[in-house]
Amino acid sequence: MAFNLIGRSLLTLKDFTPDEIRYLLNLSADLKRMKYAGIKPRNLEGKNIALIFEKPSTRTRCAFVVACYDEGAHPEYLGKGDIQIGKKETVKDTARVLGRMFDAIQFRGFKHETVETLAKYAGVPVWNGLTDQYHPTQILADLLTIEEYFGTLKGITFAYVGDGRNNMANSLMIGCAKMGMECRIVSPKSLFPEKSLVKEVEKIAAETGAKIVVTDDVAKGVKGADVLYTDVWASMGEEAEMAKRIKLLKPYQVNMKMLKMTGKEKPLFLHCLPAFHNDDTEVSKDVGAMEVTEEVFESKYSRVFDQAENRLHTIKAVMVATLGSK
Ligand code: CP
Ligand code: NVA
Repeated sequence: MAFNLIGRSLLTLKDFTPDEIRYLLNLSADLKRMKYAGIKPRNLEGKNIALIFEKPSTRTRCAFVVACYDEGAHPEYLGKGDIQIGKKETVKDTARVLGRMFDAIQFRGFKHETVETLAKYAGVPVWNGLTDQYHPTQILADLLTIEEYFGTLKGITFAYVGDGRNNMANSLMIGCAKMGMECRIVSPKSLFPEKSLVKEVEKIAAETGAKIVVTDDVAKGVKGADVLYTDVWASMGEEAEMAKRIKLLKPYQVNMKMLKMTGKEKPLFLHCLPAFHNDDTEVSKDVGAMEVTEEVFESKYSRVFDQAENRLHTIKAVMVATLGSK
């Protein structure tokens, strides 16, 4: 199946049908195969892409930049402090200026309304590279990685364990619901996802045959799960919460015991990264492993670097599908 997504923005996967997501995943796999075969299609020859980053990034930034070069486009990195957005100039004006010069805009930052305003006024496709609320391009890479591991998304039980109300939990619920999977959010009650979002996602699930479970019970949440997924306990912008979160989320750390509790022979461990799995980072040096142990992170069940690589292929697919020529 082929879908014409040209001109579309990607702010959250809510706006895409299951068939459109399936098309993006298939295109990602095709582009990955082509890259491995040394085929350089250059679908974006001559395009100029603005990459706005209010928050830091390794994977998202590099995936967009490399995807641009692979496809013949020119990326322009606009980092924190480089442009006037939201300071000396409104988001609406910035959108209209960049839209006159660039063929598309990627935005990573704090408020989700910023990326919505950009999309409303730029007149070109806008891609959400992470906001406080959603991280949709990450989910495409996650779904592709799950499919590569199990050969299918059908019948997969997915458990996200940790901060249940951050951008990753929100977006994973949407992605799993769209693809008809069973999605469990396992977190302390105080970090449960917003009720209104759960309701919205349950509506999607009713159409696709997916199942949504929100629980604070680790044993119940991970039993029978094919995939265990976690993320940092304090997201970018929430650093002040870290000490509190470490206490609250310790029972939700993904460790070998939790992997065994799935009862599965070959459970898959995923993490969007960056991860605190030992004491080798500045942030974790006095704390050690947080959301996942070193043992799980480095185990044969972990496919976190396939997942990171898949950011490139899936982001490329989004760019080609929404911007490539008809
Ligand atoms: N997973 C992810 O978005 O990584 P970066 O923050 O490095 O882009
Ligand atoms: N929840 C994390 C995701 C990082 C990719 C954050 O927003 O910092």
